[in-house]
This record gives sequence, structure tokens and C-alpha cells, in this order.
Amino acid sequence: MSSSPCLRQEMGGTYFGYMPHDELVDFLNLLLEAERAGARVCARLAVDAPTTELRRKLREVQQDEVYSCGLLIKALQTIDAEISLKVGDFYEKVMALETLAERLTLLNRGQEWVEKKLRRGLPQIEDSRIRDQLQEMLVRHEVNIREMEIQLANFL
Ligand SMILES: [Fe+2]
Repeated sequence: MSSSPCLRQEMGGTYFGYMPHDELVDFLNLLLEAERAGARVCARLAVDAPTTELRRKLREVQQDEVYSCGLLIKALQTIDAEISLKVGDFYEKVMALETLAERLTLLNRGQEWVEKKLRRGLPQIEDSRIRDQLQEMLVRHEVNIREMEIQLANFL
């Protein structure tokens, strides 16, 4: 049975597989909490970095994480949603590990988790402005993951 245009209109964006409003708010806030934690991890690990190159890279990633927080806050404001003030528990997880190499590896795993979330979530976002902003966040994560892998290879 094919649905009528009226029914399609009633169902709104979800008909096309787009995230409903509440799901989008949770998605954006989850990423915001993760990025806040990521920024905190990078700031801390930069202090421990044994080389100038690694310290510089960690500070760059930290700036990108802060930038992502800004994009996510803007996206939440665009849809008049409440902005989470929480910080994810990623910092505690990373700092529970003993060596810098282990901490950097987990940092990159966390970045990959965000990358996967964005890849899956992006096609389900109806608002093109939000999609474009998150696309930028995705590209920055891809670049940073690759560059941190290079750093890790030198370091291990
Ligand atoms: Fe991140």
C-alpha cells in the first residue's frame, strides 16, 4: 500500500528516516559531552607529551574538540533545544590507564567512536545547516585520527 501525500506530510521528516526532534537533541548533546571530555583529555595529555610535535598535535586536537563543542551548541540553539552542561566520563577512563601510549590509543578510539556516530547520524539529520556543521566536525575528526595514528607510530 502506498501512502498518500497527506499521510507523508503528517509523519514529517521521520517518514524519510530522519531523526525525530528528541532523538536529534540526545544525539547532539551526547556528542557535546564527549567533545568536552575529549578537549579535557587533550589538554591533560599535552602536558605529559614528551615531544614538541606530539604536544603541538594534542593542542591542535584540543582546539578542534573545543570548536566541535561550539558547532554542537550552535546546532542545539538552531533547534531551540536544551544544552547539556555535562562532561562525558571519557577523561576518567583515559586517566585510569597507566602509560601515555595507552592513553593516546584510547583517545584515538574515542575519536573513532565520534567519527562512527557522525557517519551513521549525518544522513538522518533533516536540517541541512546542522548536517553541514557536523560534516565539518566529521572531516576534522578523520584528519586528527590519521595524524594521531602517525604520532602514535613514532611514539610506540
Ligand atoms: Fe572528538
